[in-house]
Amino acid sequence: MDLHLTGKTAVVTGGSRGIGLAIARGLADEGARVVCAARTAVPAPKNSGIIALEVDLSTPEGPQQLADYALEQLGGIDVLVNNVGGGTIPDQPFPKIDDELWYDALKVTFLSTVRTTRATLPSLLARRGSIIHIGSVAAHTPDTGHMPYSAAKSAARNFTAALAKQYAGQGLRVNTIAPGVVNTGLWTSPDGAGDKLAKDLGIPLAEIIKEMPKLAGIPTGRVTEQGEVAALALLLASDRVPNVTGAEFIVDGAMTSART
Ligand SMILES: NC(=O)c1ccc[n+]([C@@H]2O[C@H](COP(=O)([O-])OP(=O)(O)OC[C@H]3O[C@@H](n4cnc5c(N)ncnc54)[C@H](OP(=O)(O)O)[C@@H]3O)[C@@H](O)[C@H]2O)c1
Repeated sequence: MDLHLTGKTAVVTGGSRGIGLAIARGLADEGARVVCAARTAVPAPKNSGIIALEVDLSTPEGPQQLADYALEQLGGIDVLVNNVGGGTIPDQPFPKIDDELWYDALKVTFLSTVRTTRATLPSLLARRGSIIHIGSVAAHTPDTGHMPYSAAKSAARNFTAALAKQYAGQGLRVNTIAPGVVNTGLWTSPDGAGDKLAKDLGIPLAEIIKEMPKLAGIPTGRVTEQGEVAALALLLASDRVPNVTGAEFIVDGAMTSART
């Protein structure tokens, strides 16, 4: 199926690795020009269609810098992928999670989404574009180990749904993809969520990764690959599904449906 993305332009936040990079590469492979933002830019090969910008999107000015740069490089924005999210994982129970940790999760997960959307909105509206928010099942299934992250993901999901309603009549589509466990550095890198879980359970990180489907209760018996999230994002970015807006797509191998 031709996704009609040739010649389109896109901005992907958190596009230097993981899900963001998979989406950026997918868009570029389909012929789009993409600006990727991360704190540490990973230069893309020449003529790859991907341009990297080094910017901290958790700051008040970062998202506007990204929008200005993207408009200068691309001339306009057809697709925005709000992928950045996270924050420090607290290693203390609730009463010891201080304001700084709460604000950390809100800044990177929620405020970056709001600010990047605000900064790119005029161009997205002018081009009747598509916004894709990479949320998380954590927005629905709060996790006591990641309280600020879950709450910030819920806020971002709510904001994204409201945005869809507000601009549906103007041709802007806004959808959320909510992954469960995706095979990225978030789980595999030292100091990531997988590493924290390994320390909590007292087992090696390699074991956590191997046993993740069992530990997380994923009925399909495997975690999601980055390319699966990217494939769905590409469809939502395309003009192939014009009446799909305000939707949320859970990609978790039936992990959360198995819990209800
Ligand atoms: N992996 C999963 O299992 C999973 C599950 C559910 C939801 N998600 C969501 O999916 C999204 C991507 O996750 P991932 O697993 O692909 O993460 P990842 O592999 O850790 O990649 C995160 C990306 O975001 C960038 N980033 C982080 N903080 C930033 C900041 N302040 N400003 C600009 N860029 C920043 C990182 O680059 P720098 O570090 O260089 O800035 C990197 O490019 C997140 O919203 C996450 O919550 C992931």
